[in-house]
Amino acid sequence: MTDKNRVFIFDTTLRDGEQSPGMSMNLKEKIEMAKQLERMGVDVIEAGFAISSPGDFQSVQAIADTVKNCTVASLARASEEDIDTAWSAVKGSAAPQIHLFLATSELHMKYKLKMTKKEVFDTAVAMTKRAKKYCSDIQFSAEDATRSDMDFLEKVIRGVVKAGATTINLPDTVGYTTPEEHKAFFEEIRRRVPELEDVILSCHCHNDLGLGVANSLAAVRGGARQVECTVNGIGERAGNAAMEEILMALYVRKNFYEVWANADTTEILRSSSLLSRITGVKVQPNKAIVGENAFAHEAGIHQHGVLAKAETYEIMTPASVGLKESNLVLGKHSGKHAFRDRLTTLGYTLSDEELSEAFKKFKDLADRKKSVYDKDIEAIVAKETVQVPKTYTLDRFVINSGNTITSTATVAVSREGKQTEKVARGSGPIDAAFKAIDKACGRKFDLDDYQIDAVSEGEDALGDARVVLRSDSGRTYSGRGLSTDVIEASIKAYINAINKMYYEEKEN
Ligand code: KIV
Ligand code: ZN
Repeated sequence: MTDKNRVFIFDTTLRDGEQSPGMSMNLKEKIEMAKQLERMGVDVIEAGFAISSPGDFQSVQAIADTVKNCTVASLARASEEDIDTAWSAVKGSAAPQIHLFLATSELHMKYKLKMTKKEVFDTAVAMTKRAKKYCSDIQFSAEDATRSDMDFLEKVIRGVVKAGATTINLPDTVGYTTPEEHKAFFEEIRRRVPELEDVILSCHCHNDLGLGVANSLAAVRGGARQVECTVNGIGERAGNAAMEEILMALYVRKNFYEVWANADTTEILRSSSLLSRITGVKVQPNKAIVGENAFAHEAGIHQHGVLAKAETYEIMTPASVGLKESNLVLGKHSGKHAFRDRLTTLGYTLSDEELSEAFKKFKDLADRKKSVYDKDIEAIVAKETVQVPKTYTLDRFVINSGNTITSTATVAVSREGKQTEKVARGSGPIDAAFKAIDKACGRKFDLDDYQIDAVSEGEDALGDARVVLRSDSGRTYSGRGLSTDVIEASIKAYINAINKMYYEEKEN
């Protein structure tokens, strides 16, 4: 296949994905996610929207400095200040890109931008020229392209390509289009603008009608050669097109699509679970490709067929998305060496400090839990790699609870070596414990969400607790805690979220 058949994967998990509610990540988490996207081999990482906040600027800059094998992009509105800021943030990258956007639909121009067509055209061209002075790789997005007048869209695309845009992205910003329409739309725009043969033509589909992936694949059929997508399909409202679904559709049905993408599908699951761990948002069990049940065969007739020949009911192997058998691995007598070996097999490389910390946790777990599975180890490690400074640490807790008494919790935490112990009552042991922590920290936190799951099987399964706290500014912080004791896991998750809040408040 020639390069004309290559589909570039533009990952916007850290920008379009991260800007959606409940998905915010801190600097360390974004860097970790970017490193995983690099390991996976996506072509472009959109690291953020540099001008939107000092935190975003800092993370775009850090990702640009860290990632070596992917293009790193920053989003920018079509304004001088946005472009200058985007460039300052990405210029350290080995392959920087400025991603410029301006709406071209009548609705957006009239009501949002309050600009005439001429003003939009002139601005798009002038700002592309400005960005081009800094950077050779310029992506121009005609926001709400699918609801734009074709003649005007054609004119804008011509103008910005002439001004130096190297990628033209035509977003379905509100997830309005349908697959047949989208394919025809891309064919029509290519017919009208032959200059597009020399630039990358890109699609960016939102999922409001549940058609994000189908529309992206239809765009590829219509000639798009870049797909913008996010891990687990996170993004504004109903999300963006899910990267894992697009990659596997292109891979499983390569004879139909006749295109190829560079990204390594066996890294899909790791990317998906890293994102879930970081944000605390799990994917639904029946989610295609990455859901817990995506490769589970429950019906006897299916199980029989799969055992006889996997292809009867499996169109792709679990291994092709990186699903490994959950092996019983190490026990309490295993040493650091064996632990490190297992981590290498699972694909993790930790610094010496991270390894020591993770090994301590593994030993602690192996003391409490008979069988330590790969999933347990991954839970420990994935958490270790995105650790923030521990403003507060848990010293001890005592809970008094029952069905005929009001629960009471005593929790002692330390900050900079100074211990504070508080007692609180609550409607249940977890509520009481959270209230005691609030008192010990001298602040009141709003609890947005709380969940607890078992990481692996067994009565002594590791509990994985997740809390989401909301700060006064409305920003949310997710925290996770692991323990074989569910109350301890919950307390650790609560303190982890508080520590993330302090970390960000200090950074910004
Ligand atoms: O959905 C959209 O239109 C966008 C652009 C900024 C590319 O996210
Ligand atoms: Zn978008």
